[in-house]
Amino acid sequence: MRILGIETSCDDTAAAIFDGAAGLVGHRLASQVALHQPYGGVVPELAARDHIRTLLPLVDDLLCDPANGGAAMDAVAYTAGPGLAGALLVGAAVANGLARAWAIPAVGIHHMEGHLLAPMLEAKPPPYPFIALLVSGGHSLLVAVAGAGQYHILGGTRDDAAGEAFDKTAKILGLGYPGGPAIARAAVAGDPDCFTGAKTFPRPMTKPADGLDFSFSGLKTHARSVAQQQPLDTQRIADIALAFELAVVDTVTIKCQRALAQSGYQRLVVAGGVAANQRLRARLCSMVIEHGGEVFYPRPEFCTDNAAMIAYAGHFRLTHGLREGREPSPPIPLRYDFSVKPRWSLMAIDEVASPPLP
Ligand code: KG4
Ligand code: ZN
Repeated sequence: MRILGIETSCDDTAAAIFDGAAGLVGHRLASQVALHQPYGGVVPELAARDHIRTLLPLVDDLLCDPANGGAAMDAVAYTAGPGLAGALLVGAAVANGLARAWAIPAVGIHHMEGHLLAPMLEAKPPPYPFIALLVSGGHSLLVAVAGAGQYHILGGTRDDAAGEAFDKTAKILGLGYPGGPAIARAAVAGDPDCFTGAKTFPRPMTKPADGLDFSFSGLKTHARSVAQQQPLDTQRIADIALAFELAVVDTVTIKCQRALAQSGYQRLVVAGGVAANQRLRARLCSMVIEHGGEVFYPRPEFCTDNAAMIAYAGHFRLTHGLREGREPSPPIPLRYDFSVKPRWSLMAIDEVASPPLP
């Protein structure tokens, strides 16, 4: 089964082909970073307009590449939410239009299930069960994944998501957008002895009684007040960037360790844009290995938004029953009256067009 995947939930326009037999056949991505950079963040209306301009030529380029073996698809999978309403609508409209023209199903995918499944595209996919840490611009989630499609949310964000905190702190430090990679670059020159002792940045909600929820807005506010207390030269910016990054890495590591201990699971999957952070990857790896477990990541380009994970998730939803040796999901009716879900909990994943797993 061959799936065309489409992703337009935020500021990346992406298309990919996943084939059950051949794996990931090809993928394309057009980033809107330069478009939003002057505004210091994503402007939803500009994002939607740019998806309109970019998506069809991108799909065309992907399908016409002779290396991708022809254009015959069995379904089109698209991100149906969560995300920016206008941006989602562009992908949903194009996906449903193509599916209608080709008389094949259009399958709405939950963006965070896409992120969660992204490590399945790697040579060594994670076996079930596992804990998934999903850290992106809009979400910080800890999910217990007991089996295919069996998700139980253990913790979420009370305020800013991890990536959002990176982006806002980068803005405070004048490092630009997107903030995560900018903070990570600046932090390389940071002095680890600058903010120690009484000056150590907080590790929010890490006491055992705090459970598995995250809260990053206080940490961002702390970074702002430290930044306001002194002249910001390049070195001091690097010092604050490092102190902030270390605080996020420590906090996330403590929560992951707690989630693994509570669930008794041995495997940790880390995905979403913030999973591209090298310091976080290294720290989580050593924590998990120290506890005799295993950690799984997507390759860095599939940590951030991409369509490979959406095409894979479409294939997963359509073929899961077959792969597990059970009855296949019933064929989904060829209807193209789509809607999108800008706000959508992973716990309510079966509420859209995609076939629920058996
Ligand atoms: O998953 P993603 O591409 O989009 C959403 O679904 O939100 O995640 C984007 C987020 C942004 O907040 C960005 O600053 C953050 O991921 N990010 C990083 C890094 N690369 C991207 N955060 C920390 N370190 C990075 N290297
Ligand atoms: Zn994302």
